[in-house]
Amino acid sequence: MNLFATKPLSRIIRESEGEHSLKRTLGPVQLVSLGIGAIIGAGLFSLTGIAAANNAGPAVVLSFVLAGVGCAFAGLCYSEFATMIPIAGSAYTYSYATMGELLAWIIGWDLVLEYAVGASTVAVSWSGYVASLLADFDIVLPQKLIESPIRDLKLYPFEVVWGPGLVNLPALIVVILISLLLVIGIQESARVNSVIVVLKVSVVLLFIVFGWAYINPANYKPFIPPNTGEFGHFGWSGVVRAAGVVFFAFIGFDAVSTAAQEAKNPQRHMPIGIIGSLAVCTILYVLFARVLTGLVPYADLNSAAPVAVAIDRTPYTWFREAVKLAIIAGYTSVILVMLLGQSRVFYSMSRDGLLPKLFSDIHPRFRTPWRSNLLFMLFVGLFAAFAPIQIVGHMTSIGTLFAFVLVCIGIMVMRRTHPELPRPFRTPLVPVVPVLGILSNLFLMFGLGLENWMRLFVWLAIGLAIYFGYSRHRSHLNIPEPAPVKQ
Ligand code: ALA
Repeated sequence: MNLFATKPLSRIIRESEGEHSLKRTLGPVQLVSLGIGAIIGAGLFSLTGIAAANNAGPAVVLSFVLAGVGCAFAGLCYSEFATMIPIAGSAYTYSYATMGELLAWIIGWDLVLEYAVGASTVAVSWSGYVASLLADFDIVLPQKLIESPIRDLKLYPFEVVWGPGLVNLPALIVVILISLLLVIGIQESARVNSVIVVLKVSVVLLFIVFGWAYINPANYKPFIPPNTGEFGHFGWSGVVRAAGVVFFAFIGFDAVSTAAQEAKNPQRHMPIGIIGSLAVCTILYVLFARVLTGLVPYADLNSAAPVAVAIDRTPYTWFREAVKLAIIAGYTSVILVMLLGQSRVFYSMSRDGLLPKLFSDIHPRFRTPWRSNLLFMLFVGLFAAFAPIQIVGHMTSIGTLFAFVLVCIGIMVMRRTHPELPRPFRTPLVPVVPVLGILSNLFLMFGLGLENWMRLFVWLAIGLAIYFGYSRHRSHLNIPEPAPVKQ
């Protein structure tokens, strides 16, 4: 099989038509709301505090701007793909149509870091807020059961740093529950999502408005704390590293593209959904981070629930429990979207023959890829239960950044190889925008440090071994495709 063989667009569209009979009901507002539902989560409510405390101090607001800029470039490239192939696609589908099988495989494999590993990161953070909420009601969960046993894992020189925890049980439980929901076949309901989005956005807005009056300007000094001598620990390198960390908070805007088939007018509304949700989130994030670091000295923000720490500095302590509850609900929708995205990507890869058939086996009654959901329940659950949050979070960020780099490259390749395809939305100023996208996302990856690059390489090497040992010989490009799916 030719490594650069592409999958014909007509075939992708034909197959996807068999899979969905969804109504085109989503307008621009619902699409933006869908994006925000998938975007606002652990990145904002947990990592902002951690990045401020360990890397950037009050300058974490700059880190949000840097990360937002990188995402904006990638978002413009995503929009071109999403309108050109307006089906329930992902970066995997787009690249299979344009850049060939090997790159499609690499993106598909890499997306596991974004979706599956990302879901475990959010699950760990979910667990932090649940434990904190229960503690407010004097239910104190034993430390051993809410913390992973591994605190850090270095690849070179190889070293495992053990902590006091045994297993992160709540994180494991939420992964199991949501995976079972997916097996039964919960539809991504735009209405439920809207309620959660209203809750999340209200919490952020209320936090900004209530908190603003209690900002202590002394907390902003120094704005960029001096570097400690180690790369990434304050100073400008800290701002860049923090940008790589809080980049996590932006992940999910690409989920809008998976709703292309349900959009009333995908050609016009997809770019609005993608860029609009990104813009709204960037503004909210910068304001949120400004208030958070204004309320609390940055060194005190190293907490799994920094919002609660900040609220305690205001007279609105009654607001604390409501906020935690809203955050917990908000995280749940993020985990759901990520696990759903994961099963969709592997479903497509399996239907293309690149992965074993079990990833596209459909349950006879529920009509969902249940085996895939259960396998990912195991994989994501194990990560959530036993891996340290910093590592899984960084792996998600570096993996997603890498996917964005490939999507930006894809836009340029496609303009050359498929100049004739209709492009209802054209990424402006090609090649400037994709090149800036590549550079800014590589820059954020650079900020994440050598250790995370090594983890990414190990992950990709495993993926390539599977591709050359298995997938390459089993590609279905020339075989007609079978049965439909509903998720
Ligand atoms: N952006 C999502 C979050 O912050 C993944 O949780």
